[in-house]
Amino acid sequence: MPVLTTEVKTEKSVARHNSETQQHTSNTAAKVQLQSVTKTYTNGCHALLNANLEVKKGEFLFITGPSGSGKSTLLKLLYGQELPTQGEVIVDECNVAALRGDRLSLLRRRIGIVFQDYKLITQRTVAENVTFVLQAQGYTRKEIQRRLEPTLKLVGLLNKADCFPDQLSGGEQQRVSIARAIISTPPLLLADEPTGNLDPDNSWQVIQILQKLNSFGATVIVTTHDEQLVRRCNQPVAQVRNGQLFRK
Ligand SMILES: Nc1ncnc2c1ncn2[C@@H]1O[C@H](COP(=O)(O)OP(=O)(O)OP(=O)(O)O)[C@@H](O)[C@H]1O
Ligand SMILES: [Mg+2]
Repeated sequence: MPVLTTEVKTEKSVARHNSETQQHTSNTAAKVQLQSVTKTYTNGCHALLNANLEVKKGEFLFITGPSGSGKSTLLKLLYGQELPTQGEVIVDECNVAALRGDRLSLLRRRIGIVFQDYKLITQRTVAENVTFVLQAQGYTRKEIQRRLEPTLKLVGLLNKADCFPDQLSGGEQQRVSIARAIISTPPLLLADEPTGNLDPDNSWQVIQILQKLNSFGATVIVTTHDEQLVRRCNQPVAQVRNGQLFRK
């Protein structure tokens, strides 16, 4: 997948870019499957019960459901933070529960995660928060610089690169967490309530960024309570109800 960019392009160049991107990502974009997945936490709480789901490569999917219905649990199963009690969670044809060590790290490198509570490092600037993971993964300084500007531009934070998180609004902090998740151009992006604390304008901005990523070829799964936003986007929706998942 190419480095993200917001530069103005002609329609022809956009079409060419999209077709090149799709050709390039058709072999790499993630596909997700939950097969009869039950997740029971150690305290006996059943977060998911016999849940089934398939998300195709390049798809955008909203997951909705009331608070406590299991939305975050579902995303945690996808990146291996939690293990299923029963059933199989498959990402990119790998059974996530069977992966350990390096193989799990490699899968996680291919997943961008936007956390419900941002998880920014308060003593680091916006640019440092966004590039931290790339540094840890051994990207060269040149490659990190090449990716940083278009990524910050995409989330509208180029002018805030040197600010610290406590100098930003909630919406801006959320967009830093999105920049951090997408700078490595992961084929799968998981966003847990990325608009949970935002006003309608900021929410719409965030969803547009996620849809843009999807148009570049990434598979995007977004949890949300915001029924109005979901209706406005006209994208596929799965609902969590009583621990089970239903595609609408
Ligand atoms: N680590 C845990 N240990 C025990 N129970 C947990 C744990 N994490 C979540 N749960 C329980 O599992 C259920 C699903 O939680 P989850 O966080 O997945 O819900 P959610 O749909 O994301 O809710 P919200 O919309 O409030 O974020 C809840 O009843 C919750 O209390
Ligand atoms: Mg949650």
